[in-house]
Amino acid sequence: MSTEAPPLRANGYRDSWCGQVLPEKVGAELRVAGWVNRRRDHGGLIFIDLRDRTGIVQLVFNPDSSGESFELAHKLRAEDVLSASGKVVRRSEETVNRELATGEVELLVTGAELLAGSETPPFQIEGFSSEVGEDTRLRYRYLDLRREQMREALQLRHRVVAAMREFLDGEGFVDVETPVLTRSTPEGARDFLVPSRQQQGSFYALPQSPQLFKQLLMVSGFERYYQVARCFRDEATRADRQAEFTQLDVEMSFVDGDDVIAVNERLLAHVFERAGGPRIETPMQRMCFDEAMGRFGTDRPDLRFGLELVDLGDALRATEFKVFRSVLDGGGAIRGINAGRRELPRSELDGLISRAQELGAKGLVWAFREGEGWRSPTAKFLSEGELADLNRRLGAEEGDLLLLVADQPAVVNAVLGQMRLDLAERFDLIDPEENRLVWIVDWPLMEWNEGEKRWDALHHPFTAPAGEFDPAQPGAARAQAYDVVWNGQELGGGSIRIHDARTQEAVFAALGIDAETARARFGFLLEALQYGAPPHGGIAYGVDRIVQRLYGAETIRDVIAFPKTASGFDLLTGAPAPVDELQLKELGIGIHKPKLAGH
Ligand code: AMO
Ligand code: AMP
Repeated sequence: MSTEAPPLRANGYRDSWCGQVLPEKVGAELRVAGWVNRRRDHGGLIFIDLRDRTGIVQLVFNPDSSGESFELAHKLRAEDVLSASGKVVRRSEETVNRELATGEVELLVTGAELLAGSETPPFQIEGFSSEVGEDTRLRYRYLDLRREQMREALQLRHRVVAAMREFLDGEGFVDVETPVLTRSTPEGARDFLVPSRQQQGSFYALPQSPQLFKQLLMVSGFERYYQVARCFRDEATRADRQAEFTQLDVEMSFVDGDDVIAVNERLLAHVFERAGGPRIETPMQRMCFDEAMGRFGTDRPDLRFGLELVDLGDALRATEFKVFRSVLDGGGAIRGINAGRRELPRSELDGLISRAQELGAKGLVWAFREGEGWRSPTAKFLSEGELADLNRRLGAEEGDLLLLVADQPAVVNAVLGQMRLDLAERFDLIDPEENRLVWIVDWPLMEWNEGEKRWDALHHPFTAPAGEFDPAQPGAARAQAYDVVWNGQELGGGSIRIHDARTQEAVFAALGIDAETARARFGFLLEALQYGAPPHGGIAYGVDRIVQRLYGAETIRDVIAFPKTASGFDLLTGAPAPVDELQLKELGIGIHKPKLAGH
C-alpha cells in the first residue's frame, strides 16, 4: 500500500494517518480513523486492522485498558468506520508483521468511536478473491475502489496527469477547455447525440475529440494549447477502448512535424519518469508506415521480438500451385513468417489454419524446412527451385516452422500481423522487461475504402499532405502524420494540419465531401482558415491507455474510476436509462419501439 501521507490537521477524528504509526512514534498518544479491514478475536484481546488511504495499523483492544471501547470492539465488523485513540507500543519480536510498514508497532486503544457501520459487503475488500465478477465490482465500484490495487491504479493515473500538466505548463502550454455540447467532429466513429429542448429536432453531438476547437485556438493565436479532455465515441467497447475516454490533447503553432515530435519525446520521458515507467531514450526510433506494414503487417508494430513478415511474391512469380497462382494473378501478395525451430503436433498446425481463417484468410500454408525442401502438405505443389528460394528468403534453417498466407495485401498483413503476436505469446518470445517506443511516420494521406468505393482519410481530413496535394492522385499523397506506439499499442497520434482553405477544400473533395456538405459541417473551420491561420499541428494521447500500460492492467477499465461495461452500461448508476414521458415531450421526441434494457 502506498505510504505517501499528505499533511494532516488534527481534529476530533484523528491526528495521524494509519500508515504513519511507525516505530519512531513509540510512546506517543495518537488518534487514527478509517475502515475496519479485519477483526481477530484472541481470547482476551481483540485485534483490529484499521485501514485508511495511507496504509493499515493494528489496533489492540484489551478489557483492562480499553474501557468501554472493548465492548465496541466485540461488535465491529469489516468495513465499519472507526476513530480510535491510544498509545503506540512496540510489538514483541514474534508478533512483528514484516508485510506492513507499521508492522513493528501497534496502537493500544484507550478510546474508540464507531463513526459509521457497514452492511456485509458483497465481496471482501481484505482478502479479495479474483473470482469476484467484474459486473459485481462495477455495480459496487465504490467498494471495489477501496482495494489497494484499484487505489494504486488511480493514484498512478493522478501522477501521470499531474506530470503531463507539470511538463506542459513548464513549456508554456495553456490549458483551455472546449465544449462538450457541440457539433459532430470527424474522427470517424459514431456520435453520441444530445437532443436540444430549445431547438426541438436539433441535436448537439458530444465531441469525439477537441480537434476543431484546438485548431481554432491556433487561429486565435494561443500558439501552445493543451487539455485533458473527455472524448466520446459511440463504438464497441474493448479491452483498450471505452465509449467515453480521456485524451491529453496538444496543439502548437509555427511548427513542423519534427518540432511536435521533439517536445512530445520530452513530454513522454518526463511522464514515464514521474510515473516510475521505463526510461525513454531520446531521440526515439522512427519507422515509416510502409516499413511497419511490410515488416510487421501493422501500423502499430510490437518491436520486442522478430518473426517479421517476408514478401515471397518474387520467389513464386512462375508458380503453378493454383492457390498462389490465382492470388498473384489477381494482384494479391504472398507473405510468410519464419516462426523458428518448433515442433508442433498436427492438431496445433490445424489450429493455426483455423486461426488464420478466423482472421480472414482463405487458408494457411505451414511447412517445416527439411533438407533443401519442406515437410508440408503443400510441398508437392512447389518446385525444388521455389522451395529453395522460399527457404532462402525466409532465412529458414533445418526444422524451422514456416507460415505463408496468400491474399490481397491488406488481408495478408492483418492475418500474419496478428498471428505474429499469437506466436510470440504461444512461444513466450516477449521479454517483459523490454520496452520499445517508436514513432510511425510518413503515412499515406488516404486509403481506398472498397466497401464504400471512396477514399478515406487515414488520420482525419484536417491532416496536411506532404508537399503539394494532387487531387488526381489521392492515393499517392503522403501525410505529415505521426503515431507513437509502445510495445504494439498506439498511445497517441497526430499531424501537421492543413492551414489554408484551398487545400482543405481540395482534400475534402478528394474524400468525397462535397462543397455543400463541407460548408454545412465544417464551414466555421473553413471560414476561420481565411482569417490568418498559422501553420500548426499537434497530437492527442489516450490517457487511459498510457496508465493501463504503465500499471500493467489487463483492460483500461481497471484504470478508470467509473467505467462502463463492454455493452456500454454503467452498472453503478444504471445508465443508460429510460426517461419520463414529460422529458421526452419537452424535447419533442417520441420513442418508436422501446427496447427493453438488458445487460
Ligand atoms: P485519435 O483518434 O487517434 O486522434 O485518438 C488519439 C488517441 O486517443 C486514444 N483513443 C482511445 N482510448 C480509449 N478508448 C477509445 N475509444 C479511444 N479512441 C482513441 C488512443 C489514440 O491514439 N484529434 C486526433 C488527434 C490529433 O490529430 O491531434 C485524435 O483524436 O490512444
Ligand atoms: P486448397 O486447394 O483450397 O485445398 O488449399 C491447399 C492448401 O493451401 C491448404 O493447406 C490451404 O490451407 C492452403 N491455402 C488455401 N488458400 C490459401 C491462401 N489464400 N493462403 C495460404 N494458403 C492457402
